[in-house]
Formats: sequence, structure tokens, C-alpha cells
Amino acid sequence: MSDPAHLAPPEDAFRPHAYDGIREYDKRLPNWWLWTLYLTIIFSVVYWFYYFTTGVGPDDRTTINREMQRIEDAKLASVGSLNDEVLWKMSRNPVSVDAGKATFTTTCVICHLASLRGKAESPAAVGASLIGTKWIYGGRPVELVGVVSKGTLRGMPAWGPVLGTRRITEVVAYVLSHHEPGEPVEIVASPAPGVK
Ligand code: HEC
Repeated sequence: MSDPAHLAPPEDAFRPHAYDGIREYDKRLPNWWLWTLYLTIIFSVVYWFYYFTTGVGPDDRTTINREMQRIEDAKLASVGSLNDEVLWKMSRNPVSVDAGKATFTTTCVICHLASLRGKAESPAAVGASLIGTKWIYGGRPVELVGVVSKGTLRGMPAWGPVLGTRRITEVVAYVLSHHEPGEPVEIVASPAPGVK
């Protein structure tokens, strides 16, 4: 960098071209400049591999979902005990509903179907319908949390120990996102496992 040869302009050669009589010295770029360029190129390659090619680094969506989840958790923790109002609120919150949908898809769809209609849609399905105003165990949000956590004697497994409170509330929020607060609740018997 301290090579005096290219500090003095007159000793630099001219570039061969001339435009409107303007000529350019063939001046070497300073080393600090070149190194900055090289380092940004190396950085961009590493960055590209880390975030895009290998997927080791979290993408923006993952980062923001994680942050939203943290906020939801904090909100949930600050509420203390669960109540209908909190669960209805969660059911209108896309972050909770999306998380609940993911759990529903992996855990509940096998019996309740992706439509949530279960037996009402297909006799081959094991689970009761979670759509409409007819419920076996009640349609209030806290009642749903109770059934999903504790299960029933007629074939609904107890998910509390498997999923934990947060995922239970999310999956219930997802079920509630198919309902409206204040809609009528009609209690029907469960004559045979899962049938209404
Ligand atoms: C192994 C099959 C099976 C799986 C998996 C399953 N359920 Fe069920 N579920 C049932 C059956 C069967 C019933 C009806 C139980 C009864 O009649 O006592 C039921 C009932 C329910 C009810 C009560 C419906 C009412 O009318 O009161 C809710 C709510 C429910 N399930 C939610 C879920 C959720 C959420 C999941 C996933 C975390 C899930 N279930 C996974 C079989 C299943």
C-alpha cells in the first residue's frame, strides 16, 4: 500500500483511449479499496451459502414467526389462567391459528379429517365433527381445551401430555377459527364412538 510508485500520478501510464481529448491515468486502485471489494465478495458467498443454499441460517419468515410466538407466549403467560375470551382472541390471531393448523394437520387430521368434519364427512373417519353447532362435550373454548387435553372414553385420545398447554390452546384456536363467538351450542349424545 505504501509503494511510492503509484502515488505520483505523472509516473502512471496513460490508458490508450481518449474521449474529447480527455485522457485517463492507468491508476491502480488502492489496496484497502481492493481488499474491501474482495472481502465483500467473500462475505456474499458465505452469506449466500449460510442463508439460502444450505438453509442453516433462519430465513426472515422463521425469524419473525419465532418472535411472534415469543410475544404470544408472553401474552399467554401474563393472562394467568385460560378463559373463553383469550381463546376466542387467539382464534382470530393468524399466528396462533397457523400454528394450531400445523398441529391439527400432523395430529388430528387422521381422525377428524382436514375439513374438520370427521364422521360427518366420511363414515371411515373416527373423529366427531368439529364443525357446526352440535357438540358432544360442549362448544365453549375452555370446554374444547378440556376435551382435547383429557380425551374421552369413546376414542378421543388425551393430548395434554403429548402437546403441552401452548399447542393445545393453538390447536383449539384453529378449531375455533371455524366458529364465531356467541354462536349457539347444541349438546348431542355420542351414541357410539365418534358418532353424532
Ligand atoms: C384417534 C382418533 C382421534 C384423534 C387423532 C383425535 N381425535 Fe378428537 N375425537 C375423536 C373421537 C372418536 C371423538 C368423539 C369422542 C366421543 O364421542 O367421546 C373426538 C372428539 C373430539 C372433540 C369433541 C367434539 C365434541 O363434539 O364435543 C374435540 C374438540 C376433538 N376431538 C378435537 C381433537 C383435536 C384438536 C385433535 C388433535 C390434537 C384430535 N381431536 C385428535 C378421535 C380422535
